[in-house]
Amino acid sequence: MKNHIISDWARNITPSLTLAIDSKAKALKASGEDVCNFSSGEPDFDTPDFIKEACIRAIREGKTKYIDSSGLLELRKAVAEKASCENKILSLTEKNVVISAGAKYSCYLAILATCQPGCEVLIPSPFWLSYPEMVKLSGATPKFIETSIESGFKITASQLKKAITPQTRMLILNNPSNPTGIVYTRRELEDLVEVAIASNILILSDEIYENLVYDDAQHVSPASFSEEARNQIITISGFSKTFAMTGWRLGTLIANETLAKAVGNIQSHTTSNATTFVQYGALSCYTQKDEATSFLKKMRQIFDERRQLLMNGLQNLPYFECIPTKGAFYLFPKITASGMTSSAFANKLLDEAKIAVVPGLAFGNDQHIRFSYATSQETIEKALKRMRICLQ
Ligand SMILES: Cc1ncc(COP(=O)(O)O)c(C=O)c1O
Repeated sequence: MKNHIISDWARNITPSLTLAIDSKAKALKASGEDVCNFSSGEPDFDTPDFIKEACIRAIREGKTKYIDSSGLLELRKAVAEKASCENKILSLTEKNVVISAGAKYSCYLAILATCQPGCEVLIPSPFWLSYPEMVKLSGATPKFIETSIESGFKITASQLKKAITPQTRMLILNNPSNPTGIVYTRRELEDLVEVAIASNILILSDEIYENLVYDDAQHVSPASFSEEARNQIITISGFSKTFAMTGWRLGTLIANETLAKAVGNIQSHTTSNATTFVQYGALSCYTQKDEATSFLKKMRQIFDERRQLLMNGLQNLPYFECIPTKGAFYLFPKITASGMTSSAFANKLLDEAKIAVVPGLAFGNDQHIRFSYATSQETIEKALKRMRICLQ
């Protein structure tokens, strides 16, 4: 195939660094090795039965046709009500909500609906690796705001102010964060939102890990702060991480009506609607509240126990520098004391201890590696023992 057949958009995309380590880990596993996998970005729990049953019921009842491209009306209403009651984002109706095939696609649609060539999009670094690629696909330019372990991986209002130019269209905030696991406080978010509103820029607030916060951390939605905030903030969430539904592909977007309509229009010409019966499954998360709440509580508690086990374990090993993080299911220790790059360190762990982690370089920071504790307590204990030997 001649090179010019590939578009500039496609050529411009950075291949996923996580895939290289993932395929190496899979090959090792296939050859019979006992690999401890910390590279997964999804809960290792099964989707709860009550959600599966609701989906199966919908299929049996023939709910298998096209629906409104912005999503199932009952689900959009339920999402609006949940966001009003729990996230305190007021005055919402179904017109503010779009349901898409995964939070990833919700983010992409939000960026496509608001950004274009000539625009700059601010992304705190380290970042979830899809953001810069989505921004590039819109023709806009990603601009990074650096954070470090010393600054708790958080950007400040003054950093944001300095980074804004006349071309800035949007700030992407991921809270709780992948890959760092940090959670912003209400005060920190209020300061950032104040700057964004004063500078008239949008915030894409990716809250996909909103239900996974631990210790004294509280999840706060910045769109709840004021009417202006509601107007300028696009809130993304979904079912993948909250209800262990990654393969179902279902995400939610909340925005002002004009923006939600623009997003719905793009979706109508790309995927039409997210799968109809899958949306009925998701609806049960709101109509069967008791089951949903008890699943969430159990999953959160198990993640919390693993978080503490892994964090304490890493702190007692050579090379790892950790800060206590209170969200999502990731730890992002610094490994510069080892003298290795993040890829070399990840390869050493895989080759010598059969432990798969993701090099920080994939998230824009070569001084760290990412552990996902979406894996069993037994695997964590085994990996800690292996690292004690491998990192002597
Ligand atoms: C920060 C962040 N946003 C969005 C997503 C995508 O979620 P979904 O599976 O619903 O597309 C992920 C998944 O890893 C994520 O880490």
